[in-house]
Amino acid sequence: MRNLPDVATTNAKATATAQPKTTVKGDAGQGQRHESAHKHVSGEAIYVDDQVAPANVLHAYVGLSTVAHGKLTKLDLSAVHDAPGVVEILTLDDVPGHKDIGPVFPGDPLMVEEEIEFWGQVLFAVAATSYDAARKAAKLAVVEFEPLPADITIEQGLASESFVRPSHTQRRGDARAAIDAAPRRLAGEMQIGGQEQMYLEGQASLCIPQEDGGMLVYTSSQNPSEGQKLVAEVLNVALNLVTVDMRRMGGGFGGKETHANQWACLAALLARKTGRAVKIRLARADDMAATGKRHHFLSRYEVGFDDEGRILGLDLELSGGCGMSPDLSDAIVDRAMFHSDNAYFLPAAHIVGHRVKTHTVTNTAFRGFGGPQGMVAIENIVDNIARAVGKDPLAVRKLNFYTDEGERNTTHYGQKIEQHIIPGLVERLEKTSDYQQRREEIAAFNASSQVLKKGISLTPAKFGISFTVQHLNQAGALVHVYTDGSIQLNHGGTEMGQGLYTKVAQVVAHVFQVDMDSIVCTSTRTDKVPNTSPTAASSGTDLNGMAARDAVVKIKARMTAFAAEHFAVAEAEVQFVNNRVIAGTNDFSFAEFAQLAYMNRVSLSATGYYRTPKIHYDRATATGRPFFYFANGAAVSEVLIDTLTGEYKVLRVDICHDVGQSLNPAIDIGQIEGAFIQGMGWLTAEELIWGEDGRLQTVGPASYKIPAIGDTPAQFNVELLPDSPNVEATIFHSKAVGEPPLMLAISVWSALRDAVASLADYQHSPPLDTPATPERVLQACTAMRALAPS
Ligand code: MTE
Ligand code: HPA
Ligand code: MOS
Repeated sequence: MRNLPDVATTNAKATATAQPKTTVKGDAGQGQRHESAHKHVSGEAIYVDDQVAPANVLHAYVGLSTVAHGKLTKLDLSAVHDAPGVVEILTLDDVPGHKDIGPVFPGDPLMVEEEIEFWGQVLFAVAATSYDAARKAAKLAVVEFEPLPADITIEQGLASESFVRPSHTQRRGDARAAIDAAPRRLAGEMQIGGQEQMYLEGQASLCIPQEDGGMLVYTSSQNPSEGQKLVAEVLNVALNLVTVDMRRMGGGFGGKETHANQWACLAALLARKTGRAVKIRLARADDMAATGKRHHFLSRYEVGFDDEGRILGLDLELSGGCGMSPDLSDAIVDRAMFHSDNAYFLPAAHIVGHRVKTHTVTNTAFRGFGGPQGMVAIENIVDNIARAVGKDPLAVRKLNFYTDEGERNTTHYGQKIEQHIIPGLVERLEKTSDYQQRREEIAAFNASSQVLKKGISLTPAKFGISFTVQHLNQAGALVHVYTDGSIQLNHGGTEMGQGLYTKVAQVVAHVFQVDMDSIVCTSTRTDKVPNTSPTAASSGTDLNGMAARDAVVKIKARMTAFAAEHFAVAEAEVQFVNNRVIAGTNDFSFAEFAQLAYMNRVSLSATGYYRTPKIHYDRATATGRPFFYFANGAAVSEVLIDTLTGEYKVLRVDICHDVGQSLNPAIDIGQIEGAFIQGMGWLTAEELIWGEDGRLQTVGPASYKIPAIGDTPAQFNVELLPDSPNVEATIFHSKAVGEPPLMLAISVWSALRDAVASLADYQHSPPLDTPATPERVLQACTAMRALAPS
């Protein structure tokens, strides 16, 4: 194996003995397969809905509103009550505790009380003896309402001056003066579409009543502790009576960070009321109507720059469409603002983020958490500047990169860029992808091809790692070594396919120097590790890997001290190597030694804890160091478009991405590929369409098009940036990987614009809102043809 640099530690003993000499299976740094890969493909992996349910389990379903905004005047549930199989009904009046489940701020009623605020809002829940009976019964309610005026679009919300939270501003210098004084100026606006998480496993919960008013909750959630808290609050019991268990999700992508809670709460209330186990599982169309998505944004800007294309001043207004309540929108719009520089130095900037309220489902976390929207906004601006000054957009990008020269190294919110990875990474990718040569070939192709046009673009991505909400940057773990040497690992992070359990097990394997096969990571449970953060912000491994390491270091220190004393050797002579424990001339298997330690009354169980150092952000001054570090990457995408139909294909993608010292290159590459394709779907194919009545029209895969295997580029080269360990003391100097590569897909959108721009000899920047569907590409082609020199 590679010699991993160990993290800085205050436990000198553990570090002294941690240097591995041989390889164990699944050691950190190895391209180990996902711990459940075989179970995913064989169907043996147990999701919430596969959980063996107790006898007499009931199935719950919900009745949803059919108006975007209105006053509920009648809710007659008698036909629901009388329907076959129905056992119990739940309305807001039946809730003994809190009636609002807003995760950060109030505003999310568990069910409608009087005011309906979006189409698809829960009016009531019903429990029946079968799934079909519950679903059919839920349709029988007689609902009457008085419609009220509704804001559906961001523009309507802005016109009504309706916001879910106050706006926030970040500023450096005098942007207005810098723009006014600049030799060149541009202004414009862009619509950035939202996105449905489209997890394969929909929202699902199973609640089993316990004695003393307690509740055991299985819920497909990225945030078990928040689920526990809200279930306790709606039931009006203490948190210690509620346990949440989450083994794995069939994808979350942010859509189960807060939006799993409601279903767990409803099932728990019905379970309490009936004294029976209750399961709830939403059909796809209802899941899509009733749960939040990525925020769509409206970006308006004015930028001043010089004749070379160097940005001198930027005034940017980012308006996020939040839906009907705050949910996580404050942090999401903040993250959009934090990423509106992407990789570029903004000498003077005025960035405003609005949290626009509309009468649509409250929008929520989705991979990138606002970052992608901020980054598309600036990449649009940089492309436009390049066309205005008549340069290859890559040249203008490079000109504006942060550098360690002078003051061009600090973000508009005051965080210094300490590691300048992007310039070198981009240079490397430019070479490995033959960017310059292919650009010339594409120009030649376009000169001779009338209908089909090609485009190419290289875009960078710099993504800040840490929750911007400071207290969330903490984690706990619990590790047990049993007397047969097998190890049970538990931590606060949840598994949603991203490979967190695999990576944390590799950390444990590394520190103990035992095969990963001897480690079992058990389901994430609030009674094993309490008060956990959501698995989000890509920080699952950073936080839980360090917490697990802390626990293992403690056990190992006890074992080491015991061995030293027992065999009368120095602690430095105790080594954990290749599944063995060696103390001077004594050599045991790890299992034998665990048994020996137990017989000598050594505790073989420990909790671990970690909190991220160095981070802070002062919202009053809008400055600080919100991110522990940045993850970096770049991608080159080449596309072919048909300028008569707007149809296109992504021909080739080359990616170089910075994961620091990879804990698991196989999983990291999988995350990069998956994130890129998901980002490409967001920017090109996936279109959410709301009717004027506020009803979501695209509530299934037939009308909402996610990328399919045929959409993946024929050539797809992914490289992990070599020899680039994180300078910060993260877990073995790795970097978070879950979200950052999603933003590499901006290169596809930019390449589409490049292809369209060829129609007017690259003299103009084609406006291209996202998603850049074939229809929008065709409109852009028409617009460019009109501008073409004849
Ligand atoms: N990968 C898979 N397969 N499924 C998912 O749901 N979620 C993404 C990313 N990768 C996701 C995924 C999101 S939104 C985040 S924040 C991270 O994984 C969370 O996990 P991590 O912090 O362990 O990377
Ligand atoms: N990312 C993801 N989820 C979050 C964040 C964040 O920065 N802050 C609060 N929840
Ligand atoms: Mo990811 S959007 O932070 O769950």
